[in-house]
Amino acid sequence: MNERLNRFSKFFLSISIICLCCTQAFAQVNLASSYPDRIILNLAQDASTSVAVTWRTSTNILEGYCELQLNSGTRIDPKAGIVFLAETSTIEYSSEDESNIASNQHSYVFTDLIAGKSYLYRVGTEGFWSEWLEFSTPNTDNDEFSFIYFGDPQNDIKSQWSRIIRKAYQYNPNCSFMLYAGDIINNAGSDIQWDEWFKAGSFIYGMVPQFLTPGNHDYDGLTLDPHWNAQFTQPHNGPKGLEGTCFFIDYKNLRVISFDSAVDGELEHEDGYEVTSQKAWLDSVLKNNTKEWVIVTTHLPFYSPKESRDNELIRRNFQPILEKYGVDLVLTGHDHSYGRGTASDNLEMKPSIVYVVSVSGPKLYEAGDKDWMQQKGSMLQLFQNICIKSNVLTYEAFTARGELFDKFILKKRNNSSNKLVDKKPDIN
Ligand SMILES: [Fe+2]
Repeated sequence: MNERLNRFSKFFLSISIICLCCTQAFAQVNLASSYPDRIILNLAQDASTSVAVTWRTSTNILEGYCELQLNSGTRIDPKAGIVFLAETSTIEYSSEDESNIASNQHSYVFTDLIAGKSYLYRVGTEGFWSEWLEFSTPNTDNDEFSFIYFGDPQNDIKSQWSRIIRKAYQYNPNCSFMLYAGDIINNAGSDIQWDEWFKAGSFIYGMVPQFLTPGNHDYDGLTLDPHWNAQFTQPHNGPKGLEGTCFFIDYKNLRVISFDSAVDGELEHEDGYEVTSQKAWLDSVLKNNTKEWVIVTTHLPFYSPKESRDNELIRRNFQPILEKYGVDLVLTGHDHSYGRGTASDNLEMKPSIVYVVSVSGPKLYEAGDKDWMQQKGSMLQLFQNICIKSNVLTYEAFTARGELFDKFILKKRNNSSNKLVDKKPDIN
């Protein structure tokens, strides 16, 4: 009897182990649940009074709510907040070699916020709330603020890019926002890769607004990754059809403009709608600008660090507009190496715009030996901290170990172009 019981126990144990192994083998790491995840803030057009929040749940959560209150610094009373109903839509993502995945995406834009205040918010629904998260609106003075800039994360995002965003946050936890110059993931549509990106940055995205321009890897051919506008709520103040990829925001005395150089097969048709509409829009956004500083970001570099690459089309179409209105700085990605320099294709003018190409992920190439670069870097994962204090901009690039790799200061001058003070460290 005992032997039969023993045999039965062993058989039962073996079946349990097989079942457990199967569950582990087929567990999908990117499934949504009733609890909110992938909570992310995005900058709204006027950062002093608005900010957007987006998050994800499983499809059984039909409505999403946001609760908002001023950050009092004492114990949080959930009843003290204001409740808002978010917009909800069901999205099914499919990608080669991945199981299809459906989720509900919820988004809400907080408006009528008070400038210069700290807020607490949480998202979810009864019984399934997120933790309380904190964000701040900028005041309307021209005092100091700073933001982080990342070139392409793109590859091994959880394994090897995560240390970059965490180092950047460790360096400047009070940064006002984080800016990406495209190619956030490698294969547009891959929910597994987005899952890695959200795990890499985790709660940071829920506290520091993110500003993202898309790269060629954020497009599948001519189609923008459906995740883009479902999980990011960025301003729709650009040309029709380019919502969430071509837009601008104002932050204190800075205007930041994203134009989309990955659309239409990297702007393949020079006379096509994507080029002509963005040129006209860019001209009007710069013409109407009242901010002291203007930074433009797009994925393709105006000048490439790589020997074999050049983007003459971008320069021919967009550089004259940027120069006409005295844009200060252009932040790009795509080339997986580092280059920084002041340059112009117009031989009759003194160049003033500073162009930067950078990379934050582990896909790294050698930089070439091109004249336009005042600093260059190969095989380095970098992040940048850019600080603006009234009429002075301080730019710093750091390696993954937090070592200073490049630095310059731009000073505004009356009736003259910016004065650039090169402070690159002597490490080459
Ligand atoms: Fe790219």
